Amino acid sequence: MENKSYIQADDLVKVFRLGSVEVQALRGLSMWVDKGEMVAIVGASGSGKTTLLNILGGITRATAGNTVVAGYDVTNANPVQLVALRREIVGHIFQELNLIPTLTAYENVELPMLAAKTDGSTRKARVENLLNIVGLADRMKHKPDELSGGERQRVAIAAAIANDPKVLLCDEPTGDLDTETGAIIVEYLHKVNKEFGKTVLMVTHDPSIARQCDRIYRIRDGQIISVQSPTQDDQMGATSRVDVVRERLTEIKDEIARLDEQAKAGTIDLGTFAGRRTALSDRQKMFEEELHRLGM
Ligand SMILES: Nc1ncnc2c1ncn2[C@@H]1O[C@H](COP(=O)(O)OP(=O)(O)OP(=O)(O)O)[C@@H](O)[C@H]1O
Ligand SMILES: [Mg+2]
Repeated sequence: MENKSYIQADDLVKVFRLGSVEVQALRGLSMWVDKGEMVAIVGASGSGKTTLLNILGGITRATAGNTVVAGYDVTNANPVQLVALRREIVGHIFQELNLIPTLTAYENVELPMLAAKTDGSTRKARVENLLNIVGLADRMKHKPDELSGGERQRVAIAAAIANDPKVLLCDEPTGDLDTETGAIIVEYLHKVNKEFGKTVLMVTHDPSIARQCDRIYRIRDGQIISVQSPTQDDQMGATSRVDVVRERLTEIKDEIARLDEQAKAGTIDLGTFAGRRTALSDRQKMFEEELHRLGM
């Protein structure tokens, strides 16, 4: 495994088959992350971001290509090794959070440690410490539906780092949150990265959050189309960023047009349409504001 980065994906292909329909979610995607980096992944809905994270996290198997995470050969791991990978190497915050609704915040954070057979007193101390770190010491007995969206997200962070993983995979950790709450979550993730030394890979739609990361990978149609370092960009001046934001706006507008077409053709149900249309409009607004900020 010489010359390998801490996280490395080479030529990943993922084909989903639903009956006779094939979806090529990843089409030869390659990327890497160094130890201790905090890296963002951005890209349109359906571009393959969650699929990539799930392959790195040992949940989904790639159709082709190679994956190494913290020296762990994910590609050739057997099911038992994949369980170990998920238990010991990676913490994963899912787009749908995956908190257990019947368990309290305390129990949700404790669960991964029970799976890892951590002893009782260590467990108790660690759950309390973790909930303290994410500012939820006074919410331990609350169940997910008795917590706010931002609080649930913090429980998910605490649970994801419960077994002291080397790598933290976060899928839209600020997805449904308002800007202020989102900023708090990102602050916690920075803390996990800088103070606890975890390598963090985060999917986000928010350009200002992506810019706080060491590097930004942009995915389109299952491939990486660009890699940026925000700090280098700052040296290059704002023009290149304007181009990137403009490109994103065009992508979003295309996506809205495609969605409207689907609605007209009746190939999408109205609930799904309304949800996605609103999300896209919000994102469009966000990028337009970003252009303003850049003086355009
Ligand atoms: N289990 C599955 N079976 C079939 N198709 C799938 C499956 N999971 C994902 N896909 C398809 O693969 C493509 C990539 O999906 P993915 O979830 O990776 O996108 P994404 O970039 O995370 O999107 P979003 O921003 O909406 O979360 C999509 O076209 C999706 O419909
Ligand atoms: Mg996704």
